[in-house]
Amino acid sequence: MVKAVVLGAAGGIGQPLSLLLKASPLVSALALYDIVNTPGVAADLSHIATPSKTEGFLPPDDGLAKALTGADVVVIPAGVPRKPGMTRDDLFKINAGIVRDLATGIAKTCPKAFVLVISNPVNSTVPIVAEVLKKHSVFDPKRLFGVTTLDVVRASTFVGEITKTDPQQVVIPVVGGHSGVTIVPLLSQSSAPLPSSFAGAELDALIHRIQFGGDEVVKAKDGAGSATLSMAYAGAEFALKVIRAAKGEKGIIAPTYVYLDDAAKSLVGNGVDVDFFSTNVELGPDGVKEIKSLGSLTDKEKALVAAAIPELKTNIEKGVAFINAPK
Ligand code: NAI
Repeated sequence: MVKAVVLGAAGGIGQPLSLLLKASPLVSALALYDIVNTPGVAADLSHIATPSKTEGFLPPDDGLAKALTGADVVVIPAGVPRKPGMTRDDLFKINAGIVRDLATGIAKTCPKAFVLVISNPVNSTVPIVAEVLKKHSVFDPKRLFGVTTLDVVRASTFVGEITKTDPQQVVIPVVGGHSGVTIVPLLSQSSAPLPSSFAGAELDALIHRIQFGGDEVVKAKDGAGSATLSMAYAGAEFALKVIRAAKGEKGIIAPTYVYLDDAAKSLVGNGVDVDFFSTNVELGPDGVKEIKSLGSLTDKEKALVAAAIPELKTNIEKGVAFINAPK
């Protein structure tokens, strides 16, 4: 039995993400929480002929606690998205408080759940969740994940187009964080190798497209938000990987933004000395089973990792300070 909970379930990501979780036979109960509209979304989804019982919750009458009771997996896409010209960090002011309050609910009601954070800026919101869980003495670094899967999905799509390969078969680790230069695609490790002639400006343009792919969507939506459908696809893909691994399936490896202790930092190598970093992780019954090394990097990739570190440090410190600094 697996109970999945979506916090922010009535939003642009929340609705299609809830649909994909409802469609999965791996989920046996689905709780949808938002500050608006979840009764309608839940009623709609509940007519789909799959096993999971679907319920919607709103803030009154302890709706958050009711939604979270018995949760195994909590996915968080709550908060405001970007508009043209905004960076993910511009969202911090609003989303940091939203994520803090939702994390407090998780700490009190379902401290053992796997927590998957989609709300931006992910580089800071994941440390916020960690600090809240620590304050309640329930932080388990194996169970907290920043969802960077959309960067991985984009890399597979773009490289599939270039190499004329089925994008679903293209595996590329995308490491670092989830914003601009902190997004580091390890194209030299692509399962569909790029032609050796693919270098210089062409390679730079591909790296830039993976790092700033979100901006293409923000621009095209022209004020109506950021990626929602591709994010829902990516979020469901990652959530279902976590669930499959929890149910005992072996060998599931995916990049995700996780806490690194000192041993993990030295394993990841390449000068990575930050407390949170996205790297390939083997998933298991208890969440993170093994944090993988970045493997062998080209000089260009080493430079990209080095360029990601300072911004990641700032983003992480900002999240930690939001919870711990005296108000
Ligand atoms: P949206 O505005 O369409 O939906 C957000 C939902 O959160 C709304 O339904 C809103 O009512 C709800 N919400 C607000 N405060 C809440 C609270 N306190 N408790 C529960 N729900 C609350 O936004 P969208 O497009 O779904 O994006 C959501 C977040 O996901 C944004 O922060 C966005 O930047 C982020 N995102 C992350 C990506 C990633 O790769 N990790 C990719 C794309 C977006």
